[in-house]
Amino acid sequence: MMKTGPRFLKDRCVLLTGASSGIGRDLALQIAPHGARLLLVARSQQPLNQLAEELLALGAGSAIPIVGDITDPATRAAAISRVQQDWGNLDLLINNAGVSAHGRFADNDEQTLRKILEVNFFACTELTRLALPLLTAGRDPMIVNVGSILGHRGLPHNSEYCASKFALRGWSEAIRPELARKQIDLLLVSPGTTETNFFDHLISKQGNSPWGKQKAIPSAQVAQQIIRAIQKRRHEIYPNWRGHALVLLNRFCPRLVDAIMSRYG
Ligand SMILES: NC(=O)c1ccc[n+]([C@@H]2O[C@H](COP(=O)([O-])OP(=O)(O)OC[C@H]3O[C@@H](n4cnc5c(N)ncnc54)[C@H](OP(=O)(O)O)[C@@H]3O)[C@@H](O)[C@H]2O)c1
Repeated sequence: MMKTGPRFLKDRCVLLTGASSGIGRDLALQIAPHGARLLLVARSQQPLNQLAEELLALGAGSAIPIVGDITDPATRAAAISRVQQDWGNLDLLINNAGVSAHGRFADNDEQTLRKILEVNFFACTELTRLALPLLTAGRDPMIVNVGSILGHRGLPHNSEYCASKFALRGWSEAIRPELARKQIDLLLVSPGTTETNFFDHLISKQGNSPWGKQKAIPSAQVAQQIIRAIQKRRHEIYPNWRGHALVLLNRFCPRLVDAIMSRYG
């Protein structure tokens, strides 16, 4: 039967990727006071350890860092076996880790494209595949996939990233009804530009972005909207209204958006 009341985070078991900075870190900081137990995945050991200490001080039931590259099957297996061993089930899987590159498609290479797809898409699909039996045994379980506005509208100089986030969106839509049969919800989050170090972590940068710096919203605000959406059982959110406006404009006037974009190619 479909659940309709609010989803509670109290004492829940949460597996969060990309927890060492930005949106993931803010999510962890806002989930911890609910007394949730968190397993945190990223490559940077020191920020993860420091975050784990902060989360315990904020009231997390536990905070366990798993240091590793999420594209490595061994890291995913280690995270899942730790969930199995410590909790026996999983209530919330948050696929948040992500990377990007800037530059024209012709100036980037196959390696960059494959790397971005590995982090932003395949790591999510394969971690989810491993997590499904644990989620099925979870309490009011949910998967949160952090996509992007660029998973709704392709932008020049971001082709690799757009491809990865379009793939994530299509896959999320396709599996949502499959998961519903198992009582697992799926929330797709499509942030617009957010104040994080994301743009300092680009794996390749060929020239400057033609639109310069975009107006960004704080990552704590994005995290707050994600938590509200988890509690309200939403299927999709667009945390930045400017990004949402672009998605709507593209839906109703795609030729106009094509014409605007062609100026930047
Ligand atoms: N910032 C924006 O404007 C924006 C807009 C739309 C969508 N998003 C999406 O929001 C999500 C979070 O990004 P953010 O803005 O918070 O950027 P961020 O501060 O750079 O955080 C990215 C996180 O992903 C982790 N990560 C990256 N590659 C990884 C790998 N191979 N294995 C494990 N962890 C990895 C990073 O940790 P380590 O480096 O320690 O591994 C870090 O914790 C991403 O999916 C991004 O696509 C961001």
